[in-house]
This record gives sequence, C-alpha cells and structure tokens, in this order.
Amino acid sequence: MPRVVRRERLVPNIHLLEVEAPEIARKCRPGQFVMVMPDARGERIPLTIADWDRDRGTVVSVFMAVGTTTRKLALLEAGDTVPIFAGPLGLPSEIGSVGTVLCAGGCFGIAAIHPLARAFKAAGNRVIVLVDVKAHYLLYWRDKLESVADELIVSSRDGLTGDTDYVPRHVRDILGRGRIDRVVAVGCTYLMSSIAEATRPSGVKTVVSLNPIMVDGTGMCGACRVTVDGRTKFACVDGPDFDGHLVDWVELYARRRSYFDDEIRSLCAWEEERFP
Ligand SMILES: Cc1cc2nc3c(=O)[nH]c(=O)nc-3n(C[C@H](O)[C@H](O)[C@H](O)COP(=O)(O)OP(=O)(O)OC[C@H]3O[C@@H](n4cnc5c(N)ncnc54)[C@H](O)[C@@H]3O)c2cc1C
Ligand code: FES
Repeated sequence: MPRVVRRERLVPNIHLLEVEAPEIARKCRPGQFVMVMPDARGERIPLTIADWDRDRGTVVSVFMAVGTTTRKLALLEAGDTVPIFAGPLGLPSEIGSVGTVLCAGGCFGIAAIHPLARAFKAAGNRVIVLVDVKAHYLLYWRDKLESVADELIVSSRDGLTGDTDYVPRHVRDILGRGRIDRVVAVGCTYLMSSIAEATRPSGVKTVVSLNPIMVDGTGMCGACRVTVDGRTKFACVDGPDFDGHLVDWVELYARRRSYFDDEIRSLCAWEEERFP
C-alpha cells in the first residue's frame, strides 16, 4: 500500500501530504489530481497534485480539513499507509507560451497553482501570482511561489500584509495595469467564480479547475457532472480545467451541496467515535 512520507500542518487547517507513489510521480503533469482514501472504511476524495519529486518517487498534495475524510487525512503520520492513492487523473492543464499569465489561488489552491506557475514560467511566460488569504498567518509556500513568479501579490483580508482588497478587485486592477493573456484560478468555487466574473468584461481567457463532488474519478459514476457552454461534461475526465466564462456556476454550487446533510451527519458520527 502507498506509504505516507510526510504529513505536515502548514497553517491552521491546511496540511501537506507527501506519499510514495513512483508511478504517479513519473507521469504526472500540472493540473492533474489523485484520488486518495485515508482508511479502509473511508471514501475516496480527489486532491490536486501540488508538487512531485520524480527522483524520490513522491507526490505532494495540500488539503484543507473540511469534513470527515480530510480530517482523517490530517491524522496520518509518516510511515502510515493509505489503501488507495490513484492517479494521475484528469487532463493536464494547457500550458503554452501565451505572454503574461495571472495564476490566482486561495486556500488549497495556493499550493495547487504552484506547479502551474512553474510550468508557465518554464514555457517562457511572464507570471504574476495572486494569492487570497483570510489572514496573513494563513499564507504558506510564499518562498516556493516567489521562486517561480515574476511578481507575487498577496491579498490578505486582515490588512496586515499591506492590502485588504478581495481578490476580484485585485484581478480588475491587474487587468487595468497592462496586458494579461491568460488567467488561471484554483481554489474554492466562490474564488473561481468571482475571478471568472471579474475577467468576463475583458474577455481574457480564464481557466478554472473545477471541484465538483467526485466518486470514482474515472468517468463512470457521473457524480462530477458539470455544464460548460450548455454541454454536459464530467470534470474527472473532461477537466478539471474549463473555461470559467462558460461554466454553469449556479448548477455547480447546487450540486456541491447535494450531500450536505450526510456530510454533517458523517462528521458528527466520526467526532463522537473519536471524542466520546
Ligand atoms: C479535481 C479536484 C481536486 C481537488 N483538489 C483539492 C486539493 O488539492 N485540496 C483540497 O483541500 N481539496 C481539494 N478538492 C476538494 C476535496 O476533494 C474536498 O474538500 C473533499 O472531498 C472533502 O471531503 P470531506 O469528507 O473532508 O468533507 P465533506 O464533509 O464530505 O465535504 C465538504 C465539502 O467538500 C465537497 N466534497 C465532498 N466530497 C467530495 C468529493 N468526493 N469530491 C469533491 N468534493 C467533495 C462538498 O461539496 C462539501 O462542500 C478537490 C476537488 C476536486 C474535484
Ligand atoms: S467522478 Fe465519477 S464520473 Fe467523474
């Protein structure tokens, strides 16, 4: 079974998970994800591949502890094994030499945009990275992002890192400052939809990495159905990247809440078992 090499809390509620997975490390490309199951009784969840080491054969994901499965992942320690760690899944992101690219991310997306920014930089683009944090102490991977970005802008809502603007306003400012040829956004659905709305008037191509609920991650169950440009797509095999101006965001918000009551019940039951 795949072995955990490292599980580390980066900032409150956000953890790094590094797993030995040589086959995935050898093949993965920016924008792809893994399906991971923390224990034999659990569910499989998708996590974006945030980094990899082909020599050591390891794959890194960064996740936010939001419910039962991510809380179970947060308890893993180096040396533990996970029954399922499958990938790389999804289509790789389209990386090209396009000019100036704005990579925007929030919460787990701060890590998920790192391989994208690195690949766009390596392809000869000018790369601006914009990260959204609720407060300055929730910022992580600053050094890693600075090492691949021509410019790093931190949008922190507590004002302590210099700015209290929310991300869409930053996006509009950056668009107003000079030519941007591509925007890439990764993070929660709210962050991605609001960035897509901010760029819509300019028509700048805006790619978002959608995160609908996934079950198998291989195109067979239909759980990850999304509507893009009026057509049905399955995010696990047709995405997760899509044109943010063509996504039916209302449907995505609604479908993500489909199992809300069950998720709450599951979390309460797990907490009661753990902390009787
Ligand atoms: C392609 C893709 C990549 C993702 N990458 C990351 C990542 O790198 N880091 C990260 O923290 N999160 C990522 N997510 C979201 C992550 O999968 C969910 O947060 C996780 O499944 C929640 O499980 P839970 O049991 O802890 O929480 P739950 O209580 O089950 O759910 C909490 C929230 O997560 C959503 N969710 C629940 N189950 C799933 C599921 N199987 N698939 C997708 N969303 C679900 C629900 O809409 C709900 O709002 C990604 C999602 C997708 C589709
Ligand atoms: S997760 Fe089952 S079809 Fe995409």
